[in-house]
Formats: sequence, structure tokens, C-alpha cells
Amino acid sequence: MAYSFPKNRYDKMKYKRCGNSGLQLPAISLGLWHNFGGVDTFEKGREIVRFAFSQGITHFDLANNYGPPPGSAEENFGRILKKDFGGYLRDELLISSKAGYRMWRGPYGEWGSRKYLLSSLDQSLRRMEIDYVDIFYSHRPDPDTPLEETMGALASAVQQGKALYVGISNYGAAEAARAIQILKDLGTPCLIHQPKYSMLERWVEGGLLDILEENGVGCIPFSPLAQGMLTDRYLKGVPEESRAAKSHGFLQKEELTPARLDTIKQLNVLAQSRNQSLSQMAISWLMKDKRITSVLVGVSSVEQLKTNLGAIHHAEFTQDELTHIEKLLAK
Ligand SMILES: NC(=O)c1ccc[n+]([C@@H]2O[C@H](COP(=O)([O-])OP(=O)(O)OC[C@H]3O[C@@H](n4cnc5c(N)ncnc54)[C@H](OP(=O)(O)O)[C@@H]3O)[C@@H](O)[C@H]2O)c1
Repeated sequence: MAYSFPKNRYDKMKYKRCGNSGLQLPAISLGLWHNFGGVDTFEKGREIVRFAFSQGITHFDLANNYGPPPGSAEENFGRILKKDFGGYLRDELLISSKAGYRMWRGPYGEWGSRKYLLSSLDQSLRRMEIDYVDIFYSHRPDPDTPLEETMGALASAVQQGKALYVGISNYGAAEAARAIQILKDLGTPCLIHQPKYSMLERWVEGGLLDILEENGVGCIPFSPLAQGMLTDRYLKGVPEESRAAKSHGFLQKEELTPARLDTIKQLNVLAQSRNQSLSQMAISWLMKDKRITSVLVGVSSVEQLKTNLGAIHHAEFTQDELTHIEKLLAK
């Protein structure tokens, strides 16, 4: 029997149009990169997904290689869909997947060829046991494959009915502009770009965001909390269960330098003065920019997600606060 989600689940969430498209995304989306793989506790991930949807988070972001092991996050998500969403809620969900990083052995198991992208999408659909994804991404640009081929594969995914929309991720500003134009020419507009963007990683401000705005393409920043550094997680050391402590976690302890920890502590003090947690302030800080469609967070518990959702209704900053943040980040 499907899980009983509250009827008022859409009331508290804000939804925002993705670029010039007809699609609206929740202000906060949930990513399944960490904490939903075969090495993790299935029931814990299931509880997080249930809670997310019950709070109006309609968008769940995956990729072929999420796990570990690669593919296991899609398998687990497929099991959750079956157990809790009972098929009929598929129309209320936005599910994305990607291909670009190493997924299987040999010359067709990564990067941006048509062969790899379309085979990988078929595999993702089988793992999740769904007929289509809502958004299919090229996960990274491939320097050795013509961009026309990679974008052509995305357009084919839509023509084949296996994806409703397409996106690009980790594309630099100039590459993104070219990809967007090619997709436009193919009659399959680029819906969205998924770049790394947080208070600690701001390359997108150097041109990409303007290109997206000019072309009516949405933006969904990943690792908005810098994998947990922009939270209270590491204020008193590295907890045992944290991403930085896990052997398969992508956050390296070395990134927590004394200078960075000092900045984080000062940002935390500022967040407190705004009556926010640091994670909430980091998310609000991204949301204040109208070019940002949705903020793509990761969490390892329902509690963390509950906290992060608190950011939605507090995205305003005074000029003094913004100047203060710039000063702290420039140190
Ligand atoms: N396109 C790409 O190339 C790409 C790359 C990376 C990620 N992504 C996508 O972006 C999503 C988010 O990335 P991310 O997981 O790196 O995002 P993130 O939101 O920057 O970091 C998530 C981590 O922060 C910690 N955290 C979150 N909320 C917290 C809170 N309230 N208090 C304390 N700690 C908190 C948790 O760490 P602990 O686990 O230590 O509790 C959590 O696992 C991914 O799941 C994936 O969908 C895409």
C-alpha cells in the first residue's frame, strides 16, 4: 500500500518557474548523491524521501553513478517509488538523472558520446523501474566529443519519450552558451543548468548566471552547503558519522583548514544574528538571486532537511548583512 502523504503537502513550499519553461521547481530540491546508496541504510533514505515529498519537495535529483556502489541510489530510489508512491504519484514527481562520469568499463562507459548517454539512460530507467525521467542531464562536458553529438543525444532522449526535458551540468560559461544554442537549433530547449555554487564556490557569478538568464534557462546549484561545511557540522571537530569522516565521502578533511573554519564560525555568528542556522543562511543567500530556480541540497537525516526547509521564508538580506558576508568570504 502506498504511503499516506499529507494532503496539504503543497501549502508550505514555494515553487518557481524554471527559466522560460512551463515547469515549476520547488525552492528546495533533494539530491541523492550521498546517503542513499547500497552502503547506506535503506530505511533511513526512505524516511528522508517520504518526509521531503510530504513537505512539497517534488524534485529528486539522481545520476547513473550515485551510490556507492554506482547505480545503487537509483535502485534504492526505484524501490522507494514502488513502496511509497504506488505508481500513481509519478505525475507529481520530477525525477532527474545524468550521465557523464565513469559508469561501466570500456570506451563507452563515460563522457559524452551518443552511445554512452543513451545506453546509460536506458540503464537508469531500468534501475528506477520508470518509463521516463523528467530531466536528463549531460553530467559534464566532454572535450573529445563534438558538442553537437552530446546535445543531439539529449534531444534524442526527448524524442524517444525517455526524458521530458534536458539539462547540462558542470559546463563552463562559454560551453554552456554553445550547448544552449545547439539545443535550441534542435528544437529541444535546455531547461536547466546544474553548477556547483555556494558561498564558498562562486565561479558561476563570472558570466554563467547572466548567460542562463539571457537564454531563459533555469539554474539549480549543487553542493549549496559546500558538502556540509556551511552548516554547524564541523564547528567542533569532525563527527564520526559525517561526510568528511566517511571513506566514501567526497568531502576531504583537508578542506577544513583553520582559515576556512574561522570563516565558517564567523558566518555562523552572523546567521545567529539573523535568527537562522548557518545552513539556512547559506541556502537563503543563494535563493535571494532571482536567477536561481531551486537549491539542490543533500541531507543525511530528516532533522537536517527540516532545518534546511526553514530557509525558504527568510531569503531577504539587508545591505549590511550582504557587505558583512562579502568581507568574511574575502578573508
Ligand atoms: N551535477 C553534479 O556534478 C553534482 C555534484 C555533486 C552533487 N550534485 C547534486 O547535488 C546534491 C547536493 O549535493 P551535496 O550533497 O554535496 O549538498 P550539500 O547540501 O552542500 O551537502 C550535503 C551535506 O551537508 C550536511 N548537511 C545538510 N544539511 C545539514 C544541516 N541542516 N545541518 C548539518 N549538516 C547538514 C550533510 O552532511 P553529513 O552527511 O555529514 O550529515 C549532508 O550530507 C547531490 O545529492 C546531487 O544530487 C550534483
